[in-house]
Amino acid sequence: MVLLDGKAISSQIRAELAEETAQRRAQGLKVPHLAAILVGNDGPSETYVSSKVKTCQEIGFESTLLRFDHSISEAALLAEIQKVNENPSIDGLIVQVPLPAHISVDKVMETISPAKDVDGFHPINVGKTVKNLPTFLPATPYGILMLLKRYEIETQGKHCVIIGRSQIVGTPMSILMARNEYPGNSTVTLTHSKTRDLDGICRQADILIAAIGRPGMVGPEMVKQGAVVIDVGINRIEDSSKKSGFRLVGDVDFDRVAPLCSYITPVPGGVGLMTIAGLMRNTLKAARKDFYP
Ligand code: GUN
Repeated sequence: MVLLDGKAISSQIRAELAEETAQRRAQGLKVPHLAAILVGNDGPSETYVSSKVKTCQEIGFESTLLRFDHSISEAALLAEIQKVNENPSIDGLIVQVPLPAHISVDKVMETISPAKDVDGFHPINVGKTVKNLPTFLPATPYGILMLLKRYEIETQGKHCVIIGRSQIVGTPMSILMARNEYPGNSTVTLTHSKTRDLDGICRQADILIAAIGRPGMVGPEMVKQGAVVIDVGINRIEDSSKKSGFRLVGDVDFDRVAPLCSYITPVPGGVGLMTIAGLMRNTLKAARKDFYP
């Protein structure tokens, strides 16, 4: 069993990005600038956004964190997004989700300029992804593709089973793994809460991607010997022995599943760090105007 080391690979990618950023600075080109909007005080969102800002600082990007109270109206938030759209110093914008229930995530995503949509959530960019036109890929699927690529994991002709059909991970991942290129060319099954015989389908997977947000849900009865297992879950479990009062576990019961796998991602230290690497790469592409010249 080989651990897919998101820590090592994401650190390589950050070093590559830092190098290109330093070159841009030396050449007098624009240094990438990411803006992140955080609404309210959701604990995990605070952690993710601060990691994103910290990573910008580490690799030499500029960053701006815009915080708004949970009570901000939808109209006021859309106006703030519009201001970022019109600010030429900012290349990329993310609005961290989940958002308060009174704010439409769809309206928010549609308001972000497609050229600054480094999360790849705008319908135009989703459409381009589906049509395999060059655009921002959503950060988590992008990070997973980079991980598969750097470990040279064979995907062609493999059965890839994805658990969870979210807009952020499962649905785009299913599109990307079916593309006629590497990594891709897999036969994809996208499973969800209404799927019958989930265990049986998962046992057929050569590549199993778990993105449901339920701690330890994937047990050994769902995994074929020799499978590649990608665990997207980042779940907080109460743990009084930790200073924070919690620890992070994935959607996969790692201790019982790992012995069956050819490759598996750990949590933490797997996909989470690759997501940030994907976002940073997208921000550089936004500054380079790769997709929207
Ligand atoms: N919440 C969970 N994952 C993500 C992500 O990739 N982007 C944003 N904006 N919010 C998230």
